[in-house]
Amino acid sequence: AGARPLQFPIPANVHAETVVSVKHYTDRLFSFRITRPQSLRFRSGEFVMIGLPNAEKPVYRAYSVASPAWDDELEFFSIKVPDGPLTSELQKIQVGDTVIMRQKSTGTLVLDALTPAKRLFMISTGTGIAPFASLLRDPDTYEKFDQVILTHTCRDNAELTYGQELVAALENDPLIGELTGGRVTLYNSTTREESSRMGRITALIGSGKFYSDLGIDKLDPETDRIMICGSMHMLKDVKELAESLGFHEGSLHQPSSFVVERAFVG
Ligand code: A2P
Repeated sequence: AGARPLQFPIPANVHAETVVSVKHYTDRLFSFRITRPQSLRFRSGEFVMIGLPNAEKPVYRAYSVASPAWDDELEFFSIKVPDGPLTSELQKIQVGDTVIMRQKSTGTLVLDALTPAKRLFMISTGTGIAPFASLLRDPDTYEKFDQVILTHTCRDNAELTYGQELVAALENDPLIGELTGGRVTLYNSTTREESSRMGRITALIGSGKFYSDLGIDKLDPETDRIMICGSMHMLKDVKELAESLGFHEGSLHQPSSFVVERAFVG
């Protein structure tokens, strides 16, 4: 039910996968799950290129995989842009529809780009939480770090739901629930709707409220690592903040104390 006919043949060298579930959070955000091609290997935190078979030359957009590397489905968390070349159509997908995906995954928000430490801070805004949804469900994260602090800032309360459900489900997860118990902290804020905590994460860290709210020591490159994912402006500001605190950007070639990835839109 709900499946619509393909209008165009599947291009060569892409995976054609089936939509398994769709969940709409707000008129701006939704998540969906698709079948996973058996041959797809990816590191938790990486992104893939997603499209729809609705044109001769389909439009592809980068999507961070939100599910962990061990999952036999792929999950994504997406914005809906009314006139976005892909998301204006993608937001209409239903169970049984076909989504196409290029074969290679890539990305910088990977554990191997960070050196080991005690605490891992995942700083996200909007759909930038997606790669962290993957990493939070990856046992390797807990092998490398004792504590994980996930921050998620959105315009309004309803946009925080995806992350709240994600973290709540961690404890009951049959595969990693034992690992995550008591080690993951979620820190939410809103910027455009009244809530129990308001403000951009840069302001909350800058003022020290972030530390006093959580009762934790200040960010310190000796003990901490940072992963950042959000809009272009958010990345620039959080990156500058991290660098001002003595953190250095890492890569697979040269692992260090923070990594950055843009949350893609369109
Ligand atoms: P604000 O409402 O003040 O713009 P978006 O959905 O537009 O990507 O925004 C997601 C969240 O990221 C919003 O709460 C937004 O706050 C926040 N944000 C936008 N720009 C920055 C920035 N430069 N630094 C920190 N947070 C930001």
